[in-house]
Amino acid sequence: MTDPVQGFSRFTKEEKIRWIARRYTARPEATEDLLQSYWHADPALQQLHDEFIENTLSNFYLPLGVAPNFNINGKLYAIPMAIEESSVVAAASKSAKFWGSRGGFKTQVLGTRKVGQVHFRYNGDPNTLKAFIESAMPALMQESEGLTRNMERRGGGIHAIALRDKRQELPGYYQLHCEFETRDAMGANFINSCLEQFATTLEKEARTYPGFKGEEAPLEILMSILSNYVPDCRVRATVSCPVADLGQDNGMDGETFARRMIQAVKIAEADPFRAVTHNKGIMNGIDAVVIATGNDFRAVEAGVHAYACRSGKYRSLSHADISEGEFRFWLEVPLALGTVGGLTKLHPMVRLALEILGNPTAPELMEITATAGLAQNYGALSSLVTVGIQRGHMKMHLLNILNEQGASPEEKDLLIDYFKTHTVSHSAVTERLKKLRNPG
Ligand code: MEV
Repeated sequence: MTDPVQGFSRFTKEEKIRWIARRYTARPEATEDLLQSYWHADPALQQLHDEFIENTLSNFYLPLGVAPNFNINGKLYAIPMAIEESSVVAAASKSAKFWGSRGGFKTQVLGTRKVGQVHFRYNGDPNTLKAFIESAMPALMQESEGLTRNMERRGGGIHAIALRDKRQELPGYYQLHCEFETRDAMGANFINSCLEQFATTLEKEARTYPGFKGEEAPLEILMSILSNYVPDCRVRATVSCPVADLGQDNGMDGETFARRMIQAVKIAEADPFRAVTHNKGIMNGIDAVVIATGNDFRAVEAGVHAYACRSGKYRSLSHADISEGEFRFWLEVPLALGTVGGLTKLHPMVRLALEILGNPTAPELMEITATAGLAQNYGALSSLVTVGIQRGHMKMHLLNILNEQGASPEEKDLLIDYFKTHTVSHSAVTERLKKLRNPG
């Protein structure tokens, strides 16, 4: 094994690139050129990106697409989506068009509460701890006032602080389970700062609390951190129309199609293997909007999948039924999103994505994002229960295959035309391209 590098973070960007290129790549000069070719032409903008993280070498592009014609609660949106997977934007756009002529998407924010916890150990009498926390409550609120003042002015702040006895899970384990309203901010910094202040206050108050009889360290704070599980920061998106209006361009009648859609959803409610893929399809839409709007997709992913497991079994996030001749298809997801703070003002593309969406509030962004998830799920299921996904997917994938093979614009045009009437597969495209290049 070679020696570890020392002081890498203090290298200049050029030194880091050179070191990585030489140490780990077969063609160092080509690596350097590649990394530099992805730098922004404007050095100030490149510096902005460099400073988002540490040890930046270059930028990593994702396509930014847009799915137009989303009627959400009677307002028309074009939804920006940052995603590398072909078919996702096309499927979202197709669903938007389909539902746009059937009343559009209806959404409802079911809550905006976020959660954070101070985790601690205590081995004494639980009633003494309970009395201590009650006595410390005014100090907890007062000593965090400097942090909460601005948020309160915007209508947010601390909503609840409760002691939770978790000894059944872990000996001596308690937590201060706290709820917050963070308005248009995702709120991670606000919540974590409040929690760390709570921890400091608790330790200080504990030292002088008479019930603890001067014990050296009656409680041991372990950590203070927000939770990405936000079941009370949740949104519902719904579409519905008479079953008869579901007639598809694939020739399936509305009733058969509705029955097959509902069965597909029921399978995802019953079987975790299918549920994971079903929900992945939903996340295709959700993540693309979350990334385009500069939100934390890891937080959203973790929270959404935990929510899908809330019954103890991993299940579908979407549901479907027929009620009085009306087909209903809906989705409920927890989404902690922000439209201020974080990257929202800093990243030019994020700023633009938010502008395209009409600079939404955080609850509006929850509605738009859930809609993208539902549209995506509808698109995937409607293909799966009719013609299958490969036909459309491989059509979209055709360009990727052609690019991978270095096809010229003329070759692309000819082959796109050819594959309008032929089945796309990697080998069929390669074969056809070969034939085009060597007609003999
Ligand atoms: C592919 O990215 C997503 C799907 O697999 C979703 C699904 O199966 O429902 C098509």
